[in-house]
Amino acid sequence: MTDKTDTTSTTATTDSPEAVQAPASAKPSRRSVLGWGGAGLALGAAAAGGTATALRLGEDAAPAASAGDAVPFLGEHQAGIATPVQDRLHFAAFDVTTTDRAALVKMLQEWTAAAARMTAGHEVGEGAVQDNDELPPDDTGEALGLKPSRLTLTFGVGPGLFEKDGKDRFGLKGRRPKALIDLPAFPGDNLDAARSGGDLCVQACADDPQVAVHAIRNLARIGMGKVAIRWSQLGFGKTSSTTPDAQTPRNMMGFKDGTRNIAGTETDRLGKHVWVGEKDGPDWMVGGSYLVARRIRMHIETWDRTSLAEQEDVFGRDKAEGAPVGKQREHDEPLLKAMKPDAHVRLAHPDSNNGVTILRRGYSFTDGTDGLGRLDAGLFFIAYQKDVRDGFVPLQTNLARNDALNEYIQHVGSAIFAVPPGVRDKGDWWGKALFA
Ligand code: HEM
Repeated sequence: MTDKTDTTSTTATTDSPEAVQAPASAKPSRRSVLGWGGAGLALGAAAAGGTATALRLGEDAAPAASAGDAVPFLGEHQAGIATPVQDRLHFAAFDVTTTDRAALVKMLQEWTAAAARMTAGHEVGEGAVQDNDELPPDDTGEALGLKPSRLTLTFGVGPGLFEKDGKDRFGLKGRRPKALIDLPAFPGDNLDAARSGGDLCVQACADDPQVAVHAIRNLARIGMGKVAIRWSQLGFGKTSSTTPDAQTPRNMMGFKDGTRNIAGTETDRLGKHVWVGEKDGPDWMVGGSYLVARRIRMHIETWDRTSLAEQEDVFGRDKAEGAPVGKQREHDEPLLKAMKPDAHVRLAHPDSNNGVTILRRGYSFTDGTDGLGRLDAGLFFIAYQKDVRDGFVPLQTNLARNDALNEYIQHVGSAIFAVPPGVRDKGDWWGKALFA
């Protein structure tokens, strides 16, 4: 990691997430930048021409291998949605356990400060090896020496934050967006409550799994006593692409996945299908999006005993090239009528769903066995859209009823979150406009 990954100035204040990032020109030091609450000291060091940048311990100051090593944290939209998809995922859903609104707000401010630092490749707070060895370190340390790895941390709020068991826990009930619905039950669902729902979520994506895991772990640590991990999911082998010129990844069924997705550069389509606009509201969600996560178990042992011809019929694309039925190349326009009526691509295509278009950002998973001698493997499906009522819900209603793929999959976990817009500036934090 290098100095050039720093994106902020030295004008930050002590109560801002930006305060914990370092000036571009500062020299690296592993103990010099303090986190939330210690930011004033960090700025003091910077102002004095001191060593106000904390690279992770073990990093040298050599230039980063690739310019894409750190993804800017601040912006109109949160990173991790239109951002080119990273290789690894650690997704965590949290239950809010505190009843104290002020404590929750403080934690969200601390989360934001830590997220700003970790995405830039810095240690949390005073770091993993701070001066006072009588105290537990602020940072857990397992990312020391690792590059930022294009880490993005994307924050969302679930229905339970607004109301739980009939209680308006934090005075937010009236602020719940209409689009943040409780998802309906779909045919074939076999949902495990312990792997579903959540009051808050953080999607950590990075090219290095340890960086993603470190980020979630440190946020959980900061949140201790205020939030508890409800469930978390590791993912590998991205199953979507938001960069169409890159090679399309393959899913656990061996097929290219993400061929037809919204690209991160397609501003118009993102505006039309993904970002909440001013007229959509509510105000605190403008520039945000809605996330649906589904843990989809694949019966890969059955799939692996299925003929190639049948496998290709199920998707409506060929396995080697990923071309739609009757076409030569992966990116040729699909001819839906040439596919079987129950082919996944035919049924999921916008033309079969009144134009419904979502941004997919899923990952493969394998989590040991199912206890019956089979791998617990599948797709951790993540979709972003402007409104789930015009996105995931009609699409999944169609797929759950008709998709040939249903013979080989089962939805076992489900969650929905409202993902607010990006953290704009030094005074902003995750959820600020919601709690305003
Ligand atoms: C384990 C479950 C699933 C697997 C293995 C799977 C796999 C695939 C594959 C291989 C493609 C073709 C390549 C591409 O365009 O990306 C595709 C397309 C697509 N899938 Fe899925 N998918 C799954 C679940 C879902 C679900 C739950 C949804 C939405 C509710 C969905 C929505 C789509 C859409 C919108 C397309 C693009 C259709 C087009 O425009 O041509 N998929 N999927």
